[in-house]
Amino acid sequence: MKTMVEIAHSFLSPALHRQAVCVDATFGQGKDTDWFVKRKVGKVYAFDIQEHLIERRKNDFQSHVRLIADSHASMGRYVKEDVDAMIFNFGFCPHEDPSVTTMPSESVKAIGAGLKRLRIKGRMALVIYPHQFGKQESEAIEAFLKPVDPHIVSIQKVCGLNIHTGPYAILLEKRKEWK
Ligand SMILES: C[S@@+](CC[C@H](N)C(=O)[O-])C[C@H]1O[C@@H](n2cnc3c(N)ncnc32)[C@H](O)[C@@H]1O
Repeated sequence: MKTMVEIAHSFLSPALHRQAVCVDATFGQGKDTDWFVKRKVGKVYAFDIQEHLIERRKNDFQSHVRLIADSHASMGRYVKEDVDAMIFNFGFCPHEDPSVTTMPSESVKAIGAGLKRLRIKGRMALVIYPHQFGKQESEAIEAFLKPVDPHIVSIQKVCGLNIHTGPYAILLEKRKEWK
């Protein structure tokens, strides 16, 4: 079976092409950025609040990958063009300080900023961990997205049937302008 990250990648794949603009909203060790680069997209913006994670990998990429040591909630300040594909992999970075984790209100703000930047037909994938520490975040994200008009953003949730605290994915495709 596919992992939730693999499901997120499969969902984003049709939105990728040689000129595609992509956002990795939670860089961490850079696996999602690596995935975008392997698919030969046009540009990648990658965000993480942990500067040392960005520093660690800054020489691994060419100039079409922009690593940004700032919160994804501020992405509107850095990304001024329409985005084709965006991924958020919430929570904390494995093998790093687990207290540095994504936070509910910042995550909701970032998803809103991302939806504004996403082009029509652009795709966003969220991988969410509703365990003890991510439960509040998971609830905040769902409360934000549930009332969204499906004619504006089409949204699906993919989750395990018999695992209640394991990761799940929310997949979004923008249909009309998001205000
Ligand atoms: C689950 S990890 C991401 C894993 C990553 N995609 C990878 O391939 O290794 C979550 C990351 O989000 C980062 N993070 C936490 N709050 C953030 C924020 N407000 N803006 C951007 N990144 C944030 C953490 O520092 C952590 O590295």
